[in-house]
Amino acid sequence: MRPKVLAGNWKMHKTQQEAVAFLQEFLGKLVDTPSDREIVLCVPYTCLSVLSKSLHGTRVKLGAQNVHWADQGAFTGEISPPMLVELGVRYVIIGHSERRQYFGETDATVNQRLKAAQSHGLTPILCVGETKAQRDAGETENHIFQQLALDLVDVDQSNLVIAYEPIWAIGTGDTCEETEANRVIGLIRSKLQNPDVPIQYGGSVNANNIDAIMAQPEIDGVLVGGASLQPESFGRIVNYK
Ligand code: G3P
Repeated sequence: MRPKVLAGNWKMHKTQQEAVAFLQEFLGKLVDTPSDREIVLCVPYTCLSVLSKSLHGTRVKLGAQNVHWADQGAFTGEISPPMLVELGVRYVIIGHSERRQYFGETDATVNQRLKAAQSHGLTPILCVGETKAQRDAGETENHIFQQLALDLVDVDQSNLVIAYEPIWAIGTGDTCEETEANRVIGLIRSKLQNPDVPIQYGGSVNANNIDAIMAQPEIDGVLVGGASLQPESFGRIVNYK
């Protein structure tokens, strides 16, 4: 049985104070949450320290939104794997489309980050997905297969989560049809050496569509942006039926 991984990606949202207030309310939603689900909060670097303390003794795991490949060095503005490990971080998003689009990250640097994260015991959440133009041109499969081929060179598939995030579905309310997400995720799985890698769907997941998404057999979890910012909606998501 593949684990179910339900992760929030807060992106560039919440001060430390707001993060603590979120957590106080969110933890109250987990009383009846089945124990087979892994719950992760991928928060801004500035919230890691305070949340690390607040999450101690709870079932919620701490995640970051990126990591550099070097342990230390002259890389202004970057954060290294040992820095995250010291703060109790367990998961790290790598290769999010916003990093690729706005910060020039390439498949080569994504691959370096994945290997570095794993070498320090972090579990990467690798994001892949196509643009609207690629989908319209019938390039979805080729594009994703190419991302996988380049990103996963020498990556350990026994400590990995993949998120299929069609870029056109991110923050648009235009969710990918769940059967289509299921199809693409099945194709992603067919390209992996380890078929037990959990594969999430991400892109306008919310409290109303979560049950239908999680009912799909290939979908092992979700990576949630906007709807992970409120305890009410993220609580409903982690308690999917
Ligand atoms: O990483 C999560 C993400 O990109 C999806 O964002 O706001 O569409 O749930 P959102």
